[in-house]
Amino acid sequence: MKITLDSTPANAVDTACLVIGVFSKAALQGSADLVNQASNGALQKLIDSSDVDTSWKCATLLHGLPGVAAERILVMGCGETDKFDAVRYDLVCKSAGKFLRDHAVTSAHFCLNDIQASDLNEHWRLRQAAVNLDWSNYLYTATKAPKDDDHEPLKAASFSAGDELQPALEQARGFAAGYRRSRELGNLPPNICNPAYLESEAREIAGLYANVDIEVLGQEEMAALKMSALLAVGQGSVNEPKLIVMKYRGKDDTSPPVVLVGKGITFDSGGLSLKPGPNMEQMKFDMGGAASVIGAFEACALMQLPVNVVCVVAAAENMPDGKAYRPGDVLTSMSGKTIEVLNTDAEGRLVLCDALTYSEQFNPAALIDVATLTGACVIALGNHASAIMSKHDDLADELIEAGQQAVDRGWRLPLWDDYQAQLKSLFADMKNVGGMPAGSVTAGCFLSRFTEGQRWAHIDCAGTTWKWGGDEGSTGRPVGLLTQFLINQA
Ligand code: BES
Ligand code: MN
Ligand code: ZN
Repeated sequence: MKITLDSTPANAVDTACLVIGVFSKAALQGSADLVNQASNGALQKLIDSSDVDTSWKCATLLHGLPGVAAERILVMGCGETDKFDAVRYDLVCKSAGKFLRDHAVTSAHFCLNDIQASDLNEHWRLRQAAVNLDWSNYLYTATKAPKDDDHEPLKAASFSAGDELQPALEQARGFAAGYRRSRELGNLPPNICNPAYLESEAREIAGLYANVDIEVLGQEEMAALKMSALLAVGQGSVNEPKLIVMKYRGKDDTSPPVVLVGKGITFDSGGLSLKPGPNMEQMKFDMGGAASVIGAFEACALMQLPVNVVCVVAAAENMPDGKAYRPGDVLTSMSGKTIEVLNTDAEGRLVLCDALTYSEQFNPAALIDVATLTGACVIALGNHASAIMSKHDDLADELIEAGQQAVDRGWRLPLWDDYQAQLKSLFADMKNVGGMPAGSVTAGCFLSRFTEGQRWAHIDCAGTTWKWGGDEGSTGRPVGLLTQFLINQA
């Protein structure tokens, strides 16, 4: 989708569709006010007669309003002024995008960003409008041709703003590309998106930027580094596991990087601790953490942020097989710590522990892993927030703040040592499961044992990276949170 700026007054913009916003029981403002004046009060009359619904997220399409150059006007209801906030704004933009998609509009001029709302500055409003518009015009076509009656997505959008807001548009392009990459990877089936596929995607990104380097470790290289926990998870699959390492240089070499580590289980059958059949197909999105760190990394490279970033993806497929690892196995991780496997379905922490130990060599300014780690996280926070765990209050605060700014929210869970006792094993330094209570926290506690001395945070995106229900599919999250975090570091 092509996005541009155009500061022509709303009533005079020559476009297939002009998108404006109106609040309930409030005076028209900005572009809506201009359109109303140009049409001699026609818009206000339609609102007064309830022909235009001003309720939050409601859409009304008007044709041929006198005095207005646009062919059509899409009026988006913003609801009550005092309830309006960043989350509501985002959803208005997404609804507008979806409406345009459903009504075969392929180019539009967007004025929602000129809405005045407290706390939401114009840079932010423009950026989020463009990001959400692009987000709602993503269409999965990799393994399914669009049907004849599927409308074409929006091709071009201009936004009501002057050139001074180009930087906001630059950011929007970064977020949009990151979300798209992440969503596509999440949606692709596991017979296509396997560890080698993640490698090829990373190589493609590395090929696009002179200041991105890539190195990929296969089974042999990982064996030489004694990454036995990661290798154990992959040993039941014919698809070789990979450790994918991308480095982005946005600053001088001496500046410590932000290191993003992603869980890239391209299919999680549970292994010998096999998952139940129903919904097992959903475990193709068990590489959602990897997809989001790849997406945020790409966003960063596209924006050429002045920050150093390393992206580490632990890619493997968890399958049952004669060669598969078993419950009862004791693994010696790269760190030297031993792990008793009680459940082969708690595989994410096993690939991550070696990837986190490997990441120490980068001397990270912040070390952040992102993973669809626990079903318990879906139960705790649902689809609305990713779980954030860290012993570093400042890092946790920065991540939560970034999530708020990008409307891709996270919420903190504790990592108190009190929970560590649940990981006690008779036969190893720890076991890989902590039992029923606080499943997301004990998974975090497990990882904490491999990040001692690091400024580390863990993000569990099991509930946020995938949307269940009618329009099921990958959301790309938490690309927004991570990308904003990188912007804030720069
Ligand atoms: N990938 C799953 C977690 C998951 C479940 C993500 C549902 C998204 C939706 C993870 O590998 C897993 O199976 N975790 C187990 C851990 C348990 C065996 C301690 C779980 O949550 O049940
Ligand atoms: Mn699992
Ligand atoms: Zn998993």
